[in-house]
Amino acid sequence: MLYLKELRWGTVTELMEMHRKGVPFADWGIKGHNRPFILENCRFKPGMKVVEIGGAYSDLPQHIAIQFGCEVHVIDDFGVESGEAEMWSRWGEREALLQRNPDVRYIFDRAGNFASAQIPLNYYDLIFTVSTLEHVPAEAMANVFRHMEQMLKPGGTMVHCIDLQIPLKLHKTKDLKGLLAGTLGYYLYFAFANRLASAQKPQLKTLNGWKSFLKKVFGSQIDTSGVKPEGALMSSLNTDIVTEPMEIVYKYYPPKDKPKLYRRNGTFVLIIEKQ
Ligand SMILES: C[S@@+](CC[C@H](N)C(=O)[O-])C[C@H]1O[C@@H](n2cnc3c(N)ncnc32)[C@H](O)[C@@H]1O
Repeated sequence: MLYLKELRWGTVTELMEMHRKGVPFADWGIKGHNRPFILENCRFKPGMKVVEIGGAYSDLPQHIAIQFGCEVHVIDDFGVESGEAEMWSRWGEREALLQRNPDVRYIFDRAGNFASAQIPLNYYDLIFTVSTLEHVPAEAMANVFRHMEQMLKPGGTMVHCIDLQIPLKLHKTKDLKGLLAGTLGYYLYFAFANRLASAQKPQLKTLNGWKSFLKKVFGSQIDTSGVKPEGALMSSLNTDIVTEPMEIVYKYYPPKDKPKLYRRNGTFVLIIEKQ
């Protein structure tokens, strides 16, 4: 049985607190929130079996192996399957990565590949992701979650930190009429989109969309009743959500070499326990 424990935005308040406490990796921005969030919330113990899916060039897995004595794996094919190998190589060479992080076992494969001979099942105490699941195509997401559930041992936990554009751009609204029209348009659009959504074609642009996606994928195998995610209107008014700093948006977000608007990209945490 799976239990949804948390589905909520990552906040500036908790980032400030992690920074004050000197938690490694705490810094302004989405990864600056997510990496220390993992360190603070995953109750690492010696011998624990941990995997970061989509660990890419992050040094967090090596830190966890050394600091807590965990057995740490990374599952990532570095964009080979999705044809994004060039994009993900922007952080360096794979060989240099293996040398830099000698205490991590790298499995060059993808979550969602059930045929993989390398990915162990019923093995991990903790599966986590940082800025990875938003890169999985929506139609592949159900299989990625089913596969992760199979990798996890009973008693294990999944902690995902996922980037998501804050829905409803109310900060662009100039008056009350615009606010009402924007809100109504949004509700009509998502009422329709949610009706059409399925496990294979999910609606993953809102926290509530993610909750109903999990219900569609796992059915009676998951209890989501303990969590009520913040709706879009309140999310839009929530000034405590951690968002990506301007340099990152300019450096990495498309379109390249053209003027672009600042998009309020936030991050949310999704925690599922397996019993
Ligand atoms: C933005 S990077 C992750 C950044 C990294 N977690 C960090 O903290 O710096 C996204 C990574 O996810 C990987 N990825 C995407 N889908 C995946 C899947 N189904 N299984 C494993 N890795 C995946 C990509 O190859 C890419 O390396």
